[in-house]
Amino acid sequence: MLRIGVLVSGRGSNLQAIIDGIDAGKISADIGVVISDNPKAYALERCRRHRIKSKVILREDFPNRRGFEEEIVRVLKEEGVDLVVLAGFMRILSPFFLSHFPDRVINIHPSLIPAFQGLSAQRKAVEFGSKITGCSVHIVDESVDGGPVIVQAAVPVLPDDTEETLSERILRFEHRILPQTVQWFAEGRVKVEGRRVFVEGARYGTLPVNPDLEKF
Ligand code: GRF
Repeated sequence: MLRIGVLVSGRGSNLQAIIDGIDAGKISADIGVVISDNPKAYALERCRRHRIKSKVILREDFPNRRGFEEEIVRVLKEEGVDLVVLAGFMRILSPFFLSHFPDRVINIHPSLIPAFQGLSAQRKAVEFGSKITGCSVHIVDESVDGGPVIVQAAVPVLPDDTEETLSERILRFEHRILPQTVQWFAEGRVKVEGRRVFVEGARYGTLPVNPDLEKF
């Protein structure tokens, strides 16, 4: 069975969507450990409620990023993690970290990348005047929110949207495409060919989510 490690910094609603998918029998994986770089993250409370192992690893406890990442890698390996899921983890991981999990670190970002990479993607979409934005799950590489895309969902921007209302509309799709991607990994169907990622046997060409969701 696939064993995942989830890295978080805050609220953890995407973590919750994965937990719910596992509990509902839609994801055949288990969560080995949740690691937070923020001791106040609400995600940690979710772990307590669901009796999921969690660990706080603080950047300031290490002299440099390398030491901090070494500790995260150590904990993930100790727990036998074979897929790392960034679910609102607010730090950039170095090539050193990524080399330990080649093509096995994924991230959820609230835009149709490469649009609106980095922080406050939803606010940027409103301010830009976009009419369609969305969310993406991608393989993490050395760029910020720029790695190979696995799945994207398109979400409309409405005339009276604020950052908050748009974020909420996008989040509903985040909570579907991220758990679905974890299940695709669990089924061994994700193939990475350079920048292009394919989910074997998935139905392509549908909207608003491409490839089509199967269980979520
Ligand atoms: C989400 O919007 C995600 O796309 C972004 O950070 C936010 C995390 O939310 N990377 P949550 O902690 O999962 O509720």
